Amino acid sequence: MTVHFIGAGPGAPDLLTLRGRDLIAASPVCLYAGSLVPEGVLAHCPPGARIVNTASMSLDEIIAEIAAAHAAGLDVARLHSGDLSIWSAMGEQLRRLRALGIPYSVTPGVPSFSAAAAALEAELTLPGLAQTVVLTRTPGRASAMPEGEKLAAFAATGAVLAIHLSIHLLDQVVAELTPHYGADCPVAIVWRASWPEQRIVRATLAMLDAAVGTEMERTALILVGKTLGAADFDESRLYAADYDRRYRPVGAEPRFPEAS
Ligand SMILES: C[S@@+](CC[C@H](N)C(=O)[O-])C[C@H]1O[C@@H](n2cnc3c(N)ncnc32)[C@H](O)[C@@H]1O
Repeated sequence: MTVHFIGAGPGAPDLLTLRGRDLIAASPVCLYAGSLVPEGVLAHCPPGARIVNTASMSLDEIIAEIAAAHAAGLDVARLHSGDLSIWSAMGEQLRRLRALGIPYSVTPGVPSFSAAAAALEAELTLPGLAQTVVLTRTPGRASAMPEGEKLAAFAATGAVLAIHLSIHLLDQVVAELTPHYGADCPVAIVWRASWPEQRIVRATLAMLDAAVGTEMERTALILVGKTLGAADFDESRLYAADYDRRYRPVGAEPRFPEAS
């Protein structure tokens, strides 16, 4: 018996990995984390599977469900939205399972920041403009931010910020970032990336408030940085005709003469 932690992706059912789909189909128990895991993903559960929405359950109750499946020798598919490496609460579940000696596996998923960038048709790291993306959030009721992880501190680097769990604090985010990026810095907000109701707003920090209006939906990412919508950036040296590299030796004395 194994508990399979599976990143269920950003929303579109076909953005689930094949491995994730197959594990769901092979597991007679499925625990899924609330409304961000779409029904299309749950449709892969086998007929008669026990399917439990854990949104209203405590950690103790979730572990009790898993322990009961373990006692019955039933595999569990444990689904969280996006990828498991960020804000999935997987860490605390794994720690409990290790203590109980219950085996588990971890299967990655498409994170929401990737789905949002795809919706924007954007490469977030453009040569000469930004080469770092910071996945971050603002403090919430359930999670304080460690000292030092302030938006302003990340903004001081000029990196692109992908700000999660923060759309309800938009005014605060804009006020904190404007001194660093400037009022004309591009911003994009993507609500429900990859869902049928996906919505995108592009603006500058100065114009964001007016552009967003009274949107109430909370599942959104705020992306801030110079690369958003930029047309004026350097080309990567990687594909330059005179760039000598292992797979395309160039010049009289190539660095990697044995191209393969
Ligand atoms: C609890 S976190 C889960 C993050 C998830 N593990 C991931 O890999 O993206 C929930 C936050 O992720 C972002 N999010 C998740 N799905 C999203 C989507 N489809 N579109 C936009 N933002 C999304 C929102 O900022 C939301 O408040």
